[in-house]
Amino acid sequence: MELERLITQLGKFKVLKISNCGEIKGEVSISGAKNSALPLLAASLLVEELTLENFPILLDTLYGLKILQNLGKEIILYPETNRVVIRGTVKGNKVDYQLAGLFRGSILFLGGLLGSMGKAQIAQPGGCPIGKRPIDLHLKFLQSLGCQIEQEGDFITVKLPPKPKRREFTFEKITVTGTENALLTLTALEGEFILKNVALEPEVLDLVSFLRKLGVKIEIFNRTFKIVVPRKKELKHSLTHQIIPDRIEAGTFLVLGALLGNPLKVKGLNVFHLKAVIEKLQKAGVRLKVKSPGEVEVYKSILRGDNYLETQPYPGFPTDMQAQFMVLYALAKGRSVIVEKIFENRFQHAHELKKMGAKIRIEGNKAFIEGVEKLKGASVKATDLRASAALVIAGAVAEGETTISNIHHLLRGYEKFDQKLASLGCRLKLF
Ligand code: EPU
Repeated sequence: MELERLITQLGKFKVLKISNCGEIKGEVSISGAKNSALPLLAASLLVEELTLENFPILLDTLYGLKILQNLGKEIILYPETNRVVIRGTVKGNKVDYQLAGLFRGSILFLGGLLGSMGKAQIAQPGGCPIGKRPIDLHLKFLQSLGCQIEQEGDFITVKLPPKPKRREFTFEKITVTGTENALLTLTALEGEFILKNVALEPEVLDLVSFLRKLGVKIEIFNRTFKIVVPRKKELKHSLTHQIIPDRIEAGTFLVLGALLGNPLKVKGLNVFHLKAVIEKLQKAGVRLKVKSPGEVEVYKSILRGDNYLETQPYPGFPTDMQAQFMVLYALAKGRSVIVEKIFENRFQHAHELKKMGAKIRIEGNKAFIEGVEKLKGASVKATDLRASAALVIAGAVAEGETTISNIHHLLRGYEKFDQKLASLGCRLKLF
């Protein structure tokens, strides 16, 4: 009941209106990472009871909980303390078609179900329209194990073999959810496995630390995982896990602080996960103080142009921060260049920012940005999750009022973003 109520409550909003925020003085606390919570929800299928702490309550994680509920899990959610208990036996192996279509993270239930049931039926995942986003690498890994894979329309049915065909696999390209799905799947198969060219995003390593607590041995060296899975009965049945802070939410607030902070204190982050982001902020002339590994103070700064940014797998600069940096560079004196190397269609926000007065030219996967003095409020459309956050920042800085439609994207991935901004004195409203 609680789940439906929360989904309806968050899902009903269509538009956000925001006015110029002026200077911001205050502090903001960072929530748990959405992209850690999603693989951990899938991992809850591997145990009888999982308690997740620092659990972010947003649309994508609520959809994930709904999938688990449909698979027979009991969900006890404590929104006030950001805790969720997921317990009970898995009763099916098919992921609801409509729910899977709502968010990209649904593909992780493929690995979760294979790890727990040895069989999974799932539709192609939905999510942000930022590129082709195929799942061929997930399937190539499963084929290497000797899985039986059947595709009918949008549905894929995968069955694990009793014994794996191969015990070593190299990803042709680094994939975050592909690596996570491989880890989840392997928990069903005893013995040693080698995965090469894996993703090392902090969210992947959060899943690794959960799996180690479960009883799986995982060594990491040179983008390689050496995994030793014990017999099923040696794995733990009940676990508690604390989700890491959301580095993308933290980075989003750091950008906001760089434009308006007097100062803005961003608390509850992990500064080691934000190295590439902090480096690029400093290169752009942003004044910030790392007060502790969990707290950064950031000041409105005179921004330098001549910035060059290229998105890369971690520890490189995250694609999930590219849109927010485009706003920063749009207001930095001089020219800046952004090269998007992860997704081929992740510049849709540029078009919207241009409506607000930004000077941006797109050529393939490159954005050429000429800094302007100020942005002006306009009616814009959120084209994906991180684009929506970028537009909110732009609206907070722009003269006048900005109206952002398609705002469900923001609510899919940021917990209480509107409330956090309101607590900093921003005038904004969701409709
Ligand atoms: N790719 C393939 N084949 C595959 C899988 C991926 O070609 O089978 C390609 C993709 O098209 C892309 C690249 O590999 O060009 C990397 O994609 P990846 O698989 O790493 O992305 P993902 O796992 O689908 C996760 C995050 C994204 C984040 C990316 C990159 C989750 C649920 N999603 O997506 O987060 O942008 O990694 O870091 O973890 C967001 O939170 O806004 C978001 C989009």
